[in-house]
Amino acid sequence: MTANLQKDILILAIESSCDDTAASLIRNGIILSNKVATQGIHEQYGGVVPELAGRAHQQNIVPVVDIALNNAGVNLQQLSAIAFTKGPGLMGSLMVGCSFAKSLAQSLQIPLIGINHMEAHVLAHFIENPKPSFPFLCLTVSGGHTQIVKMTDYFTSEIIGKTIDDAAGEAFDKAAKLLQLPYPGGPLIDKFAKLGNPESYSFPQPNIPNLDYSFSGLKTSILYFLQKEMKENPQFINEELNNLCASIQHTFIKHLMKKLIAASIQTGIKEISLAGGVSANTGLRFALENEGKKRGWNTYIPAFEYCTDNAAMIAMAAYLKFLKGDFETLNTAPFAR
Ligand code: KG4
Ligand code: ZN
Repeated sequence: MTANLQKDILILAIESSCDDTAASLIRNGIILSNKVATQGIHEQYGGVVPELAGRAHQQNIVPVVDIALNNAGVNLQQLSAIAFTKGPGLMGSLMVGCSFAKSLAQSLQIPLIGINHMEAHVLAHFIENPKPSFPFLCLTVSGGHTQIVKMTDYFTSEIIGKTIDDAAGEAFDKAAKLLQLPYPGGPLIDKFAKLGNPESYSFPQPNIPNLDYSFSGLKTSILYFLQKEMKENPQFINEELNNLCASIQHTFIKHLMKKLIAASIQTGIKEISLAGGVSANTGLRFALENEGKKRGWNTYIPAFEYCTDNAAMIAMAAYLKFLKGDFETLNTAPFAR
């Protein structure tokens, strides 16, 4: 691939893979703006409704891009390229960002850059200092994925462990639903866990071979436990919410960390990072830092705003692709998985 020698590289990046409509401007690798519009409409349904997500992206995309351009103090004519999330994600949601980016790139006669959402979560580590050095391991934990990725270069990676059923974010959200909390419940479990005792209740750790994860059995054991307790005391969840959140979060984190530790021992890599929405979890961030101190790891976690879905991570990945001259044609299409 040819190196791009253009001096001032200004890219508009769009993220629309799930239920956040986001836009970001990046100039020469420095983020100028990062705007996210979260779709509150899904809360009442207890999860993301794909049809409604696509519709909300359609309504939000123009204002969100306008705000991102204004906040960065730039206009469309100054842009060097347009980037968008190509997948994985919800097809209807991805289509909005893809079509918008294609039209804009075509009308401005500038290159189009397609970005893999999961790769972008990992490349969020290159937005700010300190940055991990290659090779590094990244535990990527989101609502749709849970993977241990071995990164040997920006766009060269190997998935060495993954969930065989639910993703970690999905497990947090499902557990929250069992605790009668609204969607998305992950951040709420995090919030209440701070007020509870993680040793209050114990749930069996999943016994899964290799570096893989499993969360569905845990969810079932939480369900049966709550059903039993609620039969004896219908106020059990209300009365014990903080302790339940702390204990459930503790169990999830223990499982996540166990495989990450094994991955570090197996590969000999001590550059260890977290990415994806669940890396916003206070308990998981603390566990990584704590384990890192014990094991001599260098640990890396992106700032909160770059952990959950955002367009700055798409912009960072796009900047790196621009340098390689890695562009899409205008007949490109998104992929769901
Ligand atoms: O990466 P992300 O924003 O979207 C996807 O690509 O899926 O991740 C969203 C997931 C949701 O399941 C949400 O509940 C979870 O990340 N999440 C959290 C926290 N913040 C977001 N889970 C636990 N603790 C948090 N603080
Ligand atoms: Zn994500």
